[in-house]
Amino acid sequence: MAYNVAIDGPAGAGKSTIAKAVAKKLGLIYVDTGAMYRAMALFMLRELVDPRDGDAVSQKCKEADITIDYENGEQVVFLNGENVNGFLRTEEVGNMASVISVQPAVRKKLVELQQALAKKRDCIMDGRDIGTCVLPDAQVKIYLTASSHVRAQRRFDELAAKGQKCDLEQIRQDIEERDYRDMHREHSPLRQAEDALLVDTSDMTVEEVIAHITEICERS
Ligand code: DC
Repeated sequence: MAYNVAIDGPAGAGKSTIAKAVAKKLGLIYVDTGAMYRAMALFMLRELVDPRDGDAVSQKCKEADITIDYENGEQVVFLNGENVNGFLRTEEVGNMASVISVQPAVRKKLVELQQALAKKRDCIMDGRDIGTCVLPDAQVKIYLTASSHVRAQRRFDELAAKGQKCDLEQIRQDIEERDYRDMHREHSPLRQAEDALLVDTSDMTVEEVIAHITEICERS
């Protein structure tokens, strides 16, 4: 059986930064499941599908072939054969991903892909439902969180560093809306698995979180 680490938590908790670094230290592949939902969201945006029309989203998702591969250790997401990595990390795509991910047809398709990957490869996978639904038997489960103020400030700093204009209060509101949607949806809502360890990073540096989680993995 492959060695699997599951990391769940709300938007902006630092999951991908931490998971990427821990994966490198421990020689695991990093699977960013949010990027798969984002690729599906990009497809819906491009196809002008109304995200609130559940039937339309469920029908349309059948036409999206999403696969992932690794280039120089980086996850690359392909949407119908096109490398879409460069289009995924915008607020528009993130918010759309949160809206369309409530649809069972979308989740079923992407969860199957995630489970097949984790079966074959030792990996650290992050998302919202990894410890609860995708990898219930993962050897390590972490629930990574931070206050919405801290998460909004981090996202603001990230966007500002890229030279993108943004409004801190708007980012905080978007984050809280996204949390609410992700935690209250009917199918696989974001929640801490009973056997997951809670790590609140509000007052921790990135280096401290990486060291802490690496140690947890090495112990198990
Ligand atoms: O982690 P992220 O911000 O890239 O994820 C974008 C959205 O995708 C998130 O708001 C909800 C959805 N998502 C999900 O429902 N399940 C996952 N395992 C990962 C992401």
